[in-house]
Amino acid sequence: MATLDEVARTVLRERYLRQDEAGTVIETPDELFRRVADAVAAAEDDDVEGTADRFYDALSALEFLPNSPTLMNAGTDLHQLAACFVLPIEDSLVSIFETLKRTALIHQSGGGTGFSFSKIRPVGDVVAKTGGVASGPVSFMRIFDVATEQIKQGGRRRGANMGVLDASHPDVRAFVTAKHEADAFRNFNLSVATDAAFWDAVESGEPYDLVNPRTGETVDRVDADAILDLIAELAWATGDPGLLFLDEINTHNPTPALGRIEATNPCGEVPLLPYEACILGSVNLGEMTDGDKIDREKLARTVRLGVRFLDDALDVSTFPVADIERAVSRTRKVGVGVMGFHDMLVDIGVAYDSDEAVAVADEVMQLVSETAWETSRRLAEERGPFPVWSESVFDDPVRNATTTTIAPTGTISMIAGATAGIEPIYNVVYEKQVLGGLEMVNDRFVEIAKARGFYDEDLLTDLKDRTSIQDVDAIPADVKRLFQTAHDVPPERHVAVQAAFQHHVDNAVSKTVNLPSDASVDDVRTVFLAARDQGLKGITVFRSGARPEQVLGDDPLK
Ligand code: CDP
Repeated sequence: MATLDEVARTVLRERYLRQDEAGTVIETPDELFRRVADAVAAAEDDDVEGTADRFYDALSALEFLPNSPTLMNAGTDLHQLAACFVLPIEDSLVSIFETLKRTALIHQSGGGTGFSFSKIRPVGDVVAKTGGVASGPVSFMRIFDVATEQIKQGGRRRGANMGVLDASHPDVRAFVTAKHEADAFRNFNLSVATDAAFWDAVESGEPYDLVNPRTGETVDRVDADAILDLIAELAWATGDPGLLFLDEINTHNPTPALGRIEATNPCGEVPLLPYEACILGSVNLGEMTDGDKIDREKLARTVRLGVRFLDDALDVSTFPVADIERAVSRTRKVGVGVMGFHDMLVDIGVAYDSDEAVAVADEVMQLVSETAWETSRRLAEERGPFPVWSESVFDDPVRNATTTTIAPTGTISMIAGATAGIEPIYNVVYEKQVLGGLEMVNDRFVEIAKARGFYDEDLLTDLKDRTSIQDVDAIPADVKRLFQTAHDVPPERHVAVQAAFQHHVDNAVSKTVNLPSDASVDDVRTVFLAARDQGLKGITVFRSGARPEQVLGDDPLK
């Protein structure tokens, strides 16, 4: 078993290890990995034990970790293993409250939920049954927010939601400004859904129609550019909303015959049809190097194991409601991704803001994607293709409608001792506001500092108050280049890395584009336009000093 650092041990103890009714921890980290490996491998037909051992080896070596619900729930009474769900909301009280109930059940089982509120009639519209006036999508979102507040996921953390509204909805302005008030919608990330009609109107300056979803009537004609400005202004101030590019998402919808995708899971990395869910897992790239080279063989081997693990996990997972069970078993979506991208760059001596980093992103994700699809094809030969494969876009039988996703890995990266997802580091040493404060120290930095003879405790203490080490004289320039922080990397380089990954990812990429505190609203707009240009499926910005993100900000465990 790889060595777990102090942070990993604390996170596991506080949130993941099984407890008895009195709250006493009754398993070790090693037993957790064994429990998860055994429970997932139970889906295998032959060689259950051999497969369980291989899963255990990869988990305990911190080479591959599944999403939190799998680590928490596999092999326990609550056998729900997926992190990501999307539920439908129609324009009726029955639908809204049915989905609210299902949301509660999903949160209770450890999953996060996304919804499009676009079908709900706008504020002031008629309500025939009562002769009253409608209160609009934003007011119904509030009910979901309040319900979420009360339910801890799997008893261990609060739930997370993604709220989506079409840019053409008459209430779009109220939606865009919904999180402006401090503490409003703290359990929601928000995304405005855009499509070609919106971007054409931004470009041409032609009026853009706001349409009542109940009647199909145009109720207003507005300047799309002004809407985009408002989105940029609020994103500048609060980090929300982000944007979804629904046309791009639906161009890559693997099962268009089953319907149009309208929403994603809470962090945006998995666009899903209503009732679909997805189990994620991430390969730790920091463990996929050999000296200063990428170990392609080990990476491919780990991805093969990861896809098999997630396909098994789908079979042994329970789902909170029958509609979800049905939707999941039709398309069998899984998402293998990566964490520790910045760690890998450090190991191979590449600066995050360089063209070479983009080339590494491209090389790594191409290999991950090709290997994942090859594995899914083999699984189809062994176990049959996903049930609606013949109605899908694929010519060859494959076991899963999607195989790849880049998750934020907010918590599992802390267990793995890896940099989160594909993000640059926050700093080489800092205090993370989780579980009462955890000291995060970058092992690679400490190792290099010791080897190069500039390590001392006082230096680390000094670095702790910074968000960049670039102007610290005691650190050699070539080392500083390797440890660029999220604040050092220019926004356009964040977008370039995201795009390089997205080009090889079936689902989407979770990434925050950091902007300096003195960035302008126009800079946010520029990032949005670059994201659109480069074929991203969504984009989220965060300006340093803007309100801290609440749902999945500093404390992903809350
Ligand atoms: O690292 P971990 O597996 O805990 O999660 P992540 O990679 O940071 O987030 C993956 C997905 O888990 C999110 O997009 C959500 O769907 C879900 N999630 C959640 O429901 N609640 C949280 N507090 C964190 C994540």
